[in-house]
Amino acid sequence: MELTRWEERALAGEMGEGMQKAMEIVVAIGEMKDARALIPVQSVQISGVSYKTVGEAGLEFLKDFAALGARISVLATLNPAGVELGQEHGELPPRFVERQREILEVYERMGAEPVCTCTPYLAGNLPRDGEHIAWAESSAVAYANSVLNARTNRESSITALASAITGRTPLYGLHLEENRAPTFAVKVEAELEDVADYSALGYYVGRELKGIPLFTGVEPGVAELKALAAGLATGQVSMFHVEGMGEGRRFSTAGLEKVVFGEGERRSVFEELSTCVEPDVLCIGCPHCTMEEVERVLKAGAEREVWVYTCRRNKDAVRSGMEKRNIRLIADTCMVVQPLEEMGIGSVGTNSAKCAYYTRNLSGLEVWFGRTENLLKARW
Ligand code: F3S
Repeated sequence: MELTRWEERALAGEMGEGMQKAMEIVVAIGEMKDARALIPVQSVQISGVSYKTVGEAGLEFLKDFAALGARISVLATLNPAGVELGQEHGELPPRFVERQREILEVYERMGAEPVCTCTPYLAGNLPRDGEHIAWAESSAVAYANSVLNARTNRESSITALASAITGRTPLYGLHLEENRAPTFAVKVEAELEDVADYSALGYYVGRELKGIPLFTGVEPGVAELKALAAGLATGQVSMFHVEGMGEGRRFSTAGLEKVVFGEGERRSVFEELSTCVEPDVLCIGCPHCTMEEVERVLKAGAEREVWVYTCRRNKDAVRSGMEKRNIRLIADTCMVVQPLEEMGIGSVGTNSAKCAYYTRNLSGLEVWFGRTENLLKARW
């Protein structure tokens, strides 16, 4: 792999041990992927932020990295933490809170922005058309590639951090134009009435197929695209096209293998992901809600307790007087990376297939996956 003079010097340790270690990681991945060079990145989204997913080993790794003098050189935002910053919510074990604070302190010391959200593009980290970035949050990766036309592979927490420090990523995969064309078409015949339906569509396709889908028969808005991206990313899909939208305008379904997503497929996802009917709490905001989604939920009101997750910027923008009984707005964290199981929660209701999947498989909770309106109107 060809390196610039600056990259060679960084690799040789001339810019300190922290930079050297980060460059070693980026170069090792580049060699493994047969990249011909490294390219500069404009921003990074770092995953591996909640103590629930990072654990002791991850915290020690971060501390060691920081102790080597590693400093972040580009705009870097963080994934949701395990707690709401400065306002620990629920009955959280003190040890968890303390460790979470340590993780955030280390990231901030290295130079990350204290913005903890999986929708960085709604919170000040908005890449421009065609920009190369190195993001790790899978739903944000799919959204950035497909909706914002930025270019990123799906980074791990370690490679994203290494890119944040070096400001570089290897040139391979979705950074290359030739790898961004659709590889199969999905004809949507089901009626998609809610973000939960888009989420189910993404989950179904991401679980069944690999590659880059071109969707036909849908007209999603921002919230629906976000839900679709997260559903797809729950499987292995990191980019998609929608016929007639953005880059999707350049492609047609001619010559592509076709898959149909009908009413049967839509229902099958809701049935597969639901294991209970009367959850302890309803969770909306996976990925974090847009301001419009927050306002819609507040306007609709709720019969049961609903936790609505969003970025700090949106939570702070909610005007006093808009609050509603039963609805709690939560920033900086999410229902999947919060230790819900240690907070006495045994089951959740959600309108997100990604949330349903991980809440069951990561946290071992029971789940009701339903449309937003059904969640908000549910009584028992
Ligand atoms: Fe975001 Fe948490 Fe869902 S990070 S995409 S709300 S699992």
